[in-house]
Amino acid sequence: MDRIRLEGGRPLEGTIAIAGAKNTALKLMVASLLSDQPLVLSNQPDVVDVSVLAHLLAELGVRVEGNGDGCMALDASSLTSMKAPYDLVRKMRASILVFGPLLARCGHAEVSLPGGCAIGTRPVDLHIAGLEALGAAIELKEGYLVGEAPGGLEGAEFTFPQVSVGATEHVMMTATLARGTTLIGNAAMEPEIRDLADCLNAMGADIAGAGTSEIRINGVARLGGATHRMLPDRIEAGTYAMVAAATGGRLRLAGATEDHFGDVAAALRQAGVAIESRDGGIDIRRADGILRGVDVTTRPFPGFATDLQAQFMALMTTACGVSRIHESIFENRFMHVPELMRMGADIEVRGGTAIVRGVDRLKGAPVMATDLRASVCLILAGLAAEGETMVNRVYHLDRGYERLVEKLSGCGAVIERIPG
Ligand code: UD1
Repeated sequence: MDRIRLEGGRPLEGTIAIAGAKNTALKLMVASLLSDQPLVLSNQPDVVDVSVLAHLLAELGVRVEGNGDGCMALDASSLTSMKAPYDLVRKMRASILVFGPLLARCGHAEVSLPGGCAIGTRPVDLHIAGLEALGAAIELKEGYLVGEAPGGLEGAEFTFPQVSVGATEHVMMTATLARGTTLIGNAAMEPEIRDLADCLNAMGADIAGAGTSEIRINGVARLGGATHRMLPDRIEAGTYAMVAAATGGRLRLAGATEDHFGDVAAALRQAGVAIESRDGGIDIRRADGILRGVDVTTRPFPGFATDLQAQFMALMTTACGVSRIHESIFENRFMHVPELMRMGADIEVRGGTAIVRGVDRLKGAPVMATDLRASVCLILAGLAAEGETMVNRVYHLDRGYERLVEKLSGCGAVIERIPG
C-alpha cells in the first residue's frame, strides 16, 4: 500500500488550480442514465471515485469515453443491465444514485446496498421514501434494493423529514422523467444540487428552485444530450485554504468561489484567516499571523461542511485557545482524533463534540488514514508539524483529491509518495 512521506514546518506559497467538484461529478455521470443521447462533462476531476463510477456505468451498458484532460462523454443509448452489483457498489456510496434513474428510464432496477467511507451507519431510508413517493415499489432482497415501476413514475409532493444531499439529488434526478409535477420540500441546498439541476435542465428537464429548500420538477417524457462544465470543488478549495492557514503561508486557489464556502468562510475569518476573492480565484493567508480557536458545528449547506470538519480540526490544533467542534451530520466522524493526538494535539471527545486545546506545535509521526477527509487532515497536520510525518493507507486520498502530492510540492511542500 502506498504511503506519503512529508516534512512539515514550511509555509506554502503559490497557486493551486482547484479541480471540478468530485461530489458533483459523480451525480452528473449518473444523470447520463436518464437519456439516450450523449452527455459530455468537462472540468471532470481525475480521482478514483470517478473511475469507480465509470466502471459501474459501463457495467450497465453506458459507453464512457474520457480524453484524459477533464472531459468525459457518456452515452447511455443502449443500456444492457439494470443491476448494479455488490462488488462495485460497495466501493462507493454514491452508486446508490443509479437506482432511481434506472427505474425512471427502464421501469426496473436492482442495486446493492452501498458501502463508502466508514463514517457512521449512513442509511438510505430517505432515498427509498422519496422514490416510493413517486410510485416506485421497492423491496430488499438478499442485500439488493429491487425496484419496480412498470407503468412509469408519478410526480408527487414529498418533504424530507431530514435534510439529505444524496437523497435530494436522487429524487430530483428521478422526478425529471415522472409524469406530472414533483415538489420536494426540505431539500438540501448545496451548490452541487444547483449544478446538477443546471445540467439536467440543459438536457431538457424542467427544474426550478434547486439550491433552495423547495424544488419543483415538471416531469418530461424524455431528456436529450448536453454539454456541461461542472463547478469547482469547494471541499478541495477549503482544504487548501486550511493548508495555507495552518502553515502560515499564502496560497492562491485558482477557480475557487467564496460563495460556495458557506459558513466555512466566516469560521476561517474568525480564526484569523484572510480570504480575498479576485480574478476568478481566492487568495488565502493569515490576517495577522495568529490563529485563534473557533467553535463550529457541521450542518447542511450553507452551514459548516462536514467534509471540512477534519481539516478544520487539524487547523485548530495549533490555534490560540480552545475550539469546540461539533459534528451533527455523522456519528462516527472523529477517527482522525487519535491520529492527531499522536502528533501532539490536545483533543478530548465528548459525544459528538471534540474539544481542541491549541498547542504551540505538532510533531511529525507515523499516522494512519481512515477515510477520505480524515486522510487529508493528517497531511494538513503533517505540513504544519515539525519533522517527518508518514501517512499510511493513502488510497483513501486518491478517491477525492487529484494530484495532491504534485499540487502541494508545487507550492514548496517537501512531500513524496512512496509506492508499496
Ligand atoms: C453527506 C454530506 C455532504 C458530503 C457527503 C460526503 C450533508 C448534509 N451531507 O452527503 O455534504 O459531501 O456526505 O461526506 O452535510 N441519512 C439518513 N437516511 C438517508 C440518507 C441520509 O438517515 O437515506 C442521514 C445520514 O446518515 C446523515 C444525514 O442524513 O446523518 C445527511 O446525509 P446525506 O446528506 O444524505 O449524506 P450524503 O448525501 O452522503
